[in-house]
Amino acid sequence: MRILRLGFVLAFSSGFAAIVIYITGVSNLNALSVLSEDELEALQALQTDFGKCVRANGLGLEAVSGEGYCQVSINFPKDTIPKWKDPKTGEVEGLSYSFNLCEAVATWEQVRNSTTILTKEFIDALPNGWTDYAWKRINKGVHLNNCENRTLCMEKLSLVLPETPPYIPRQFGRCAVIGNSGDLLNTRFGKEIDAYDAVVRENGAPVQNYTDYVGTKSTFRLLNRGSAKALDKVVELDESRKEALIIKTTVHDIMNQMIREVPIHNPVYLMLGASFGSAAKGTGLKALEFALSICDSVDMYGFTVDPGYKEWTRYFSESRQGHTPLHGRAYYQMMECLGLIRIHSPMRPDPNRVVKWVPSHNVISAATSASEKLLRRAGAGSSDPLRACSIIRRGIKRKTTAIPSPRKAAIVHQKLVKGTTMYPLEHHPGHGQLCIARPYDPSR
Ligand SMILES: *[C@@H]1O[C@H](CO)[C@@H](O)[C@H](O)[C@H]1NC(C)=O
Ligand SMILES: *[C@@H]1O[C@H](CO)[C@@H](O)[C@H](O)[C@H]1NC(C)=O
Ligand SMILES: *[C@@H]1O[C@H](CO)[C@@H](O)[C@H](O)[C@H]1NC(C)=O
Repeated sequence: MRILRLGFVLAFSSGFAAIVIYITGVSNLNALSVLSEDELEALQALQTDFGKCVRANGLGLEAVSGEGYCQVSINFPKDTIPKWKDPKTGEVEGLSYSFNLCEAVATWEQVRNSTTILTKEFIDALPNGWTDYAWKRINKGVHLNNCENRTLCMEKLSLVLPETPPYIPRQFGRCAVIGNSGDLLNTRFGKEIDAYDAVVRENGAPVQNYTDYVGTKSTFRLLNRGSAKALDKVVELDESRKEALIIKTTVHDIMNQMIREVPIHNPVYLMLGASFGSAAKGTGLKALEFALSICDSVDMYGFTVDPGYKEWTRYFSESRQGHTPLHGRAYYQMMECLGLIRIHSPMRPDPNRVVKWVPSHNVISAATSASEKLLRRAGAGSSDPLRACSIIRRGIKRKTTAIPSPRKAAIVHQKLVKGTTMYPLEHHPGHGQLCIARPYDPSR
């Protein structure tokens, strides 16, 4: 009887497995069948170049192609000793991370053309923008009961809510994003960092007493909730008091009160962003996302856990555990090998380092288009830069003083998109965008 039952369980589970394989196999085939030979080749080329790039620049990391045309895993050398433990499960970090290259190219390419600053025109245009979205962006929103009193909600957001976006894509040329890793103290990157057009820092990172290592320039600062609550201290870190402060979480009363009463004259904005899933929640990645949405090129410093790292430390305070350092490192390596960023660290100190084997512009753009089709993204298959606009609204003309004398690359982009602002729609299944078309003066 027992043997019979075991036999049944086996037959049942293998049958079940067969069905699962059948279903996933078929859906993969179906998905791939939307692609032409050329498009499949583009995805193949992306994987091949990507693998070579990781080998050439990854300091021992290796990319291994997985199932289908999109999956890759990035593996650390076998002798890497992971140091970080998940405080919840007590497990140490793994040495292999899988990524979906198709999702990464499609999503990050979109970030480059989007605005990542929350504006009033966005909330006004978004279906249920005030009752759902704005309501959730205000801490203690529960008391506001879906922004039943709209005036009150507007009042709470007013200090951080511009009417139209304060920045446009490609507004800045070369940008540097500075993390807080202790390894910054191993190389004097200060002068190099100060030579960028814009510098993005994070949370409570000081420059005073560390300028040889981290430079003095500071154009933007990305803040998490904790730092936003200490806004009065944070603004003191930049002597010019001109730094724009970008808050990645909700707005709350303590912060508003400081802005009014201290008072704080720096521009303060809330960040709006794409959803990248669990790999990409930290302030570091948000800072890269913000920089990629306003800069031509983005270089990063002070994020790495290169071979031989012992502990994730901060350059300005007691060592701190940080979070998922190896996962982060693998993700940043993926970004470097998709041509999005360039990583600088004590082990890659050459400011003119060329990232070898980065897939060419042609490979990336063919793979992006193939990925959009494969993932059934909004507007896939079209070359119109406005293809992903799933909601289109008319907006007001931007004040000409808002962005004084934009760079050529920014003007070229504005012409291509006819002055349209694209906002990411979080959790939209096809990654559609909310687009605000505005009267556009092509002579500018
Ligand atoms: C982004 O804009 C550029 C033009 O600046 C365009 O060529 C490209 O297709 C756009 N990409 C996406 C994903 O919209
Ligand atoms: C809505 O909020 C405003 C601003 O705080 C307040 O003046 C007004 O009395 C409120 N309206 C209602 C109906 O509660
Ligand atoms: C810089 O060093 C001085 C003297 O040790 C100290 O008083 C000051 O607080 C330091 N500044 C920062 C931002 O750490």
